[in-house]
Amino acid sequence: MLENRLGITDSTELAREEERISKQKAIQMFESGFLDRLEAGTVQCLTEIHRILFEDIYPFAGKIREVNISKGSFRFAPVMYLREALKNIEKMPQKEFEQIVEKYVEMNIAHPFREGNGRITRIWLDLIFKKELGFVVDWSQVDKEDYLLAMERSPIRDIEIKYILKNALTDKINNREVYRKGIDHSYYYEGYIVYKTMDLQKKNPKDKK
Ligand SMILES: Nc1ncnc2c1ncn2[C@@H]1O[C@H](COP(=O)(O)OP(=O)(O)O)[C@@H](O)[C@H]1O
Ligand SMILES: [Mg+2]
Repeated sequence: MLENRLGITDSTELAREEERISKQKAIQMFESGFLDRLEAGTVQCLTEIHRILFEDIYPFAGKIREVNISKGSFRFAPVMYLREALKNIEKMPQKEFEQIVEKYVEMNIAHPFREGNGRITRIWLDLIFKKELGFVVDWSQVDKEDYLLAMERSPIRDIEIKYILKNALTDKINNREVYRKGIDHSYYYEGYIVYKTMDLQKKNPKDKK
């Protein structure tokens, strides 16, 4: 279990609290205009999103990892090369759809943080799409199994993830509902299904800004 700032020792409880707190942060980021002030496609942009989402939960919020990590049989970028890799990824072009997905795939291979990479990198990706192409991904239209399989394959073959994302693009880039449903769906990919962003805000009207 991950060391956390909440003093929680039960992993189920930690997952619930992580979901509740970070989803509220995700709503605030959108509503306050914070996301639009970030420079799309930079490492700083990704780091800021990570820091804000997880600062109340994990000591490693916004900090590049110091340990090697893997999923299934895939090892993400070794710590030894991680910072160099991030500099190179930041320089990758992002003018066209294909380039943007290729950049996203490389950022996933880097997996800069100890946890939370899936969720924050999807927000980061949408900011690039939004700025460069005037589209975002409607994640509620992206099937979980299809997505995860495509990401697992993406380091060797990116055609599937390109196909999946292309089919889910929407021009409703400033639409609250698209964003919120997208956050819920993105969390669902990672197994977080207890809270809905819609209900979270209703219960906490004073958290609005
Ligand atoms: N075998 C794999 N190979 C490459 N990428 C993967 C693999 N499995 C999952 N991923 C990617 O990693 C993400 C999960 O990373 P993680 O750091 O655990 O994020 P989160 O904490 O948000 O769940 C998935 O959303 C997917 O994009
Ligand atoms: Mg995870």
